[in-house]
Amino acid sequence: MNKLVIANWKMNPQSQKDAERIFSATSKIAKTSPKINILVCLPFPYLHMGKKFKIKNLSLGAQDVSASLEGAHTGEVSIGMLKDLKVSSVIIGHSEKRASGDTNILVNKKVLNALKAKISPVLCVGESTRDASGEYLSFIKNQIHECLGSVTKSQMKDVVIAYEPIWAIGEKAERVATPEEFTEIRIFIKKTLSLMYDMKTANGVLVIYGGSVHPDNASSFVSAGADGLLVGRDSLSAKNFNTIVKSLI
Ligand code: PGA
Repeated sequence: MNKLVIANWKMNPQSQKDAERIFSATSKIAKTSPKINILVCLPFPYLHMGKKFKIKNLSLGAQDVSASLEGAHTGEVSIGMLKDLKVSSVIIGHSEKRASGDTNILVNKKVLNALKAKISPVLCVGESTRDASGEYLSFIKNQIHECLGSVTKSQMKDVVIAYEPIWAIGEKAERVATPEEFTEIRIFIKKTLSLMYDMKTANGVLVIYGGSVHPDNASSFVSAGADGLLVGRDSLSAKNFNTIVKSLI
């Protein structure tokens, strides 16, 4: 199966002009890497750019969505609005959103709304610390159980799970996860899903890695079994993003 590389621009760049420049570089990377599926997750004001591009292996994503469907929710963006913009996927439960108040209950509502609208949720899970006693495993298991509450077996084929250990994300990252650490969690996620659903359903869910993915470590996570990568900072640099994508071919 083709690998999935997600570009998470976060709250960047600051102008439409720069957004167009990065988007056009990203689409060139997609065109020259037809065997990799690229999902570019843009800040809301730039999502309209996606309508102009038609590249088979490039799709458009958002970085969050409201847990409510419409109405009096100042500052929020609904799943219907994303659907109208031809968004195919949405990141849900990113640790930066969880840090500003997203609970597993809210994340679950967002996941269910996305699935109902036929928009694929990229559910982020990950612990803030790795303790020697293995508490982080029950933390992740609980995130998966609560965030996927009421999601049916048949809906699971549209869910992507991104393992993003909080300690490995962004400029303040303590360190990058090792491929072995990713493998452990990948197996653990699959086992958790197979107990919640069944083996076939668990095997059909893409499990990807995110957190300080750079050109020098990208392929090691794929060798460790990742179905793809979620790239933050380096998705804004055409040179680095291109090297990351090409290293998976
Ligand atoms: P990073 O971000 O690649 O800049 O560490 C990853 C993420 O938070 O999605």
